[in-house]
Amino acid sequence: METTEQSAALTSRRSFLLRGAAASAGVIATGRLLADASPALGAGGLTPGDAAILRFLAAAEILETDAWQQYNELGGIQDSELPGGSGSAAYTAALEVLDSDMPQYIHDNTEDEFTHFTFINAYLASNGAATVNLDQFRTLPSSKATGAQQIGRLTNLMQLTVDTSWWTRYRSRTGNPDFGDTFPQAVPGLSQGQFPGIPRSDHDLHPPAHLQAIANTAGFHFAFIEQGGTSLYPSLAQRVTHPEVLRILLSIGPTETMHFQTWQDKAGNAPPLTDPTNGLVFPDLNAAPFGGEDFQTNLIMPEPTIFLRRTFPVCSIIRPTETDGAAMGALRALTANGLFIGQSSAFFAVLQDLATAADAARQGS
Ligand SMILES: [Fe+2]
Repeated sequence: METTEQSAALTSRRSFLLRGAAASAGVIATGRLLADASPALGAGGLTPGDAAILRFLAAAEILETDAWQQYNELGGIQDSELPGGSGSAAYTAALEVLDSDMPQYIHDNTEDEFTHFTFINAYLASNGAATVNLDQFRTLPSSKATGAQQIGRLTNLMQLTVDTSWWTRYRSRTGNPDFGDTFPQAVPGLSQGQFPGIPRSDHDLHPPAHLQAIANTAGFHFAFIEQGGTSLYPSLAQRVTHPEVLRILLSIGPTETMHFQTWQDKAGNAPPLTDPTNGLVFPDLNAAPFGGEDFQTNLIMPEPTIFLRRTFPVCSIIRPTETDGAAMGALRALTANGLFIGQSSAFFAVLQDLATAADAARQGS
């Protein structure tokens, strides 16, 4: 089945993915164990749709990992479990204003993302399907701040435009993005302009309010990234075919939700301030004109809201979970976030191919 899919889809753009599959032959031995433990998948292997959904998720996880690794190098815990970096004491201290456990949480979120793409690629390989390798696009510069590795990156954390409407989306009792509703920003300034989530160099370590604004930006960015995964997995799970692929999506997705829930709690601890270098304002979310049900910082449990039909009773749910166009929607959101500023047109072409294929997948095909 996969062979048919490959021969039909062997465009020049995708050929690198197939080479990537050959290059990752080393993981096939591991994958064989997975396949042996799951005879239910049988000789038929993955449907082309399941493979396409898993490949898009692998790509998303690789990109997520690249971003988290940069955060960990400067603001997490650098140890043998994660590659590189030696930490920025000043940046780490600013992150710890949000919670003294921030470095541990950053470390653990980073490690989780590594395991997600590694597992999905191994699972694809074990079923004879092409895996995803984006190494050729590791071309973006690293932070010049002391503590960061000087290596090529996939993502750009230094020109972020952070959509903070997830804050009010999960606090609304009446709106659901799947019904076309929109939600106000918690930090309007972050949703306009471009701001670093990590120090770009040691020059960014001063003055203190500037460095704290960078740490605050990171705090809201962490939750932005993880709420995306929180929606992406249930959205795509609705179109997978094989029960074991469904099990993978249903088992990884909620870990993204665990991350999101942690991060939205920490974002609420970001101190109100104005960055003296660029005017970026972090408002007091507990005081007018903010405050109340839509902004109060300790209201971190999802409010019940409309789901499926307005006539049903409200329900506390993940939102959005619309499956049509979910992969392309995720790609658009990450692009609008500024994560890919500086990437090549070839990079965008590959990501769009992966998203298009995932969104074309249908249950049973
Ligand atoms: Fe993940």
